[in-house]
Amino acid sequence: MRIGVIGAGIMGSGIAQVAAGAGHDVTLIDVARDRAEKGKAGIARALERQVAKGSLDQAAAEALLGRIDPQAETSTLATADAVIEAATENEELKRKILSGLALAPHALLATNTSSISITWLAAATDRPDRFLGLHFFNPVPVMKLVEIIPGLATSAETLATARALVEGLGKTAIVAKDSPSFIVNRVLCPMLNEAIFALGEGVGTVEDIDAGLRLGANHPMGPLALADFVGLDTLHAIMLVMQKATGDPKYRPAPLLSKYVEAGWFGRKSGRGFYDYRGDKPVPTL
Ligand code: 3HC
Repeated sequence: MRIGVIGAGIMGSGIAQVAAGAGHDVTLIDVARDRAEKGKAGIARALERQVAKGSLDQAAAEALLGRIDPQAETSTLATADAVIEAATENEELKRKILSGLALAPHALLATNTSSISITWLAAATDRPDRFLGLHFFNPVPVMKLVEIIPGLATSAETLATARALVEGLGKTAIVAKDSPSFIVNRVLCPMLNEAIFALGEGVGTVEDIDAGLRLGANHPMGPLALADFVGLDTLHAIMLVMQKATGDPKYRPAPLLSKYVEAGWFGRKSGRGFYDYRGDKPVPTL
């Protein structure tokens, strides 16, 4: 199969890596060719680490990379069988990208949105019946889950095709209703936001809040480290979508989260969030 991935950031690169790892030819698109190439270079680094650890052999890593074609134009997706949009979590941007595609009639079109209404995004496409949400988790090569979210117009055939695609990538699929943030983020993001409220109110330090959930609830990462990992801008955008869609103030972003986003402190990807990542190991910033 030929799979197009739009957006070569953390999620798009991860999806491209998994799709190429499953033997698909992948076109990885970003607004400029060098951004798409940077995404591919990140995949190469992840594969090098796997080769160094012995979990992947060199020839397989090279073959996988060889199946990823970085591009800047969505016209290169004309022969794709499936396209997954993984651009920034911004409604207008996603609708603009989705409405500008000229795909093969049979192609499945999916969005990796974390929270936005699938039905609303579908309405911007030329194929609401062949459109749905495929929500991957970070780091995509490691996380086993993909949420499948049919919109109002998604056909049963599209749902079945998407399920087969997801399972072919070695992932487990769950189906969620088209409701703000679906299943996982509906539960996870308010928890991360609550940890930031607790930090802002001085309930605990960064380290104590994270150790609390790691050791007291057996989470693999503390909520503040995980918020940095997901991206504070992304978490902020998700909370705003939930607040706007439901009108429920319980989803309002924690004031400290909004401040960090205003400062451009987005977490790992910008080098600073609740931890500073610019040294050898992360150091709490508060
Ligand atoms: N590519 C391939 N393999 C990778 C990888 C990548 N990009 N990143 C990590 N790995 C592999 C490592 O190679 C290692 O493999 P091994 O077990 O064969 O040696 C394994 O993953 C574990 O990695 P590390 O040893 O480096 O680190 P940890 O054991 O600390 O695990 C973690 C890191 C998997 C990130 C773990 O801390 C974890 O599960 N954290 C929670 C992640 C989470 O909750 N993600 C969901 C976020 S929400 C989301 O994405 C939704 C969005 O819409 C907001």
